[in-house]
Amino acid sequence: MELIKWDKTFSVNVLRFDEEHKNIILIINRLNAATQKNDERERVSDALNEMTLYAISHFKAEEDYMTRFEYPEYELHKEEHREFTRTTIGFCKRVMNRNDNIAYDLVEYLNYWLTNHIQGTDKKYTECFNKNGLY
Ligand SMILES: [Fe+2]
Repeated sequence: MELIKWDKTFSVNVLRFDEEHKNIILIINRLNAATQKNDERERVSDALNEMTLYAISHFKAEEDYMTRFEYPEYELHKEEHREFTRTTIGFCKRVMNRNDNIAYDLVEYLNYWLTNHIQGTDKKYTECFNKNGLY
């Protein structure tokens, strides 16, 4: 798979969140490189650590603004965040059980997250956040 490059189609027009979303692309690219070299183990645990941090701090920041700005799709959005957290925990369990193909499945899931959540669900808050002065 080719390297994913950041472009405007990923932007939610809030600087801080764009920067944090770039980490997801970075994780995907690193995992991809690792699968090609059969050197996945360390990369998988790095990725899961970063996904855990992302889930804790990034989701909280987004959700705090949603509450503050009375964003109407807050509950739906929050449910997708919960799903990401559950999926991350699922992957951690697979690592403990020494399952195979985790890197490949992680790349697939993070690609799905990029398209579905970041380019879909996240972009819906742009108007509300910008209107409230958050860029
Ligand atoms: Fe989000």
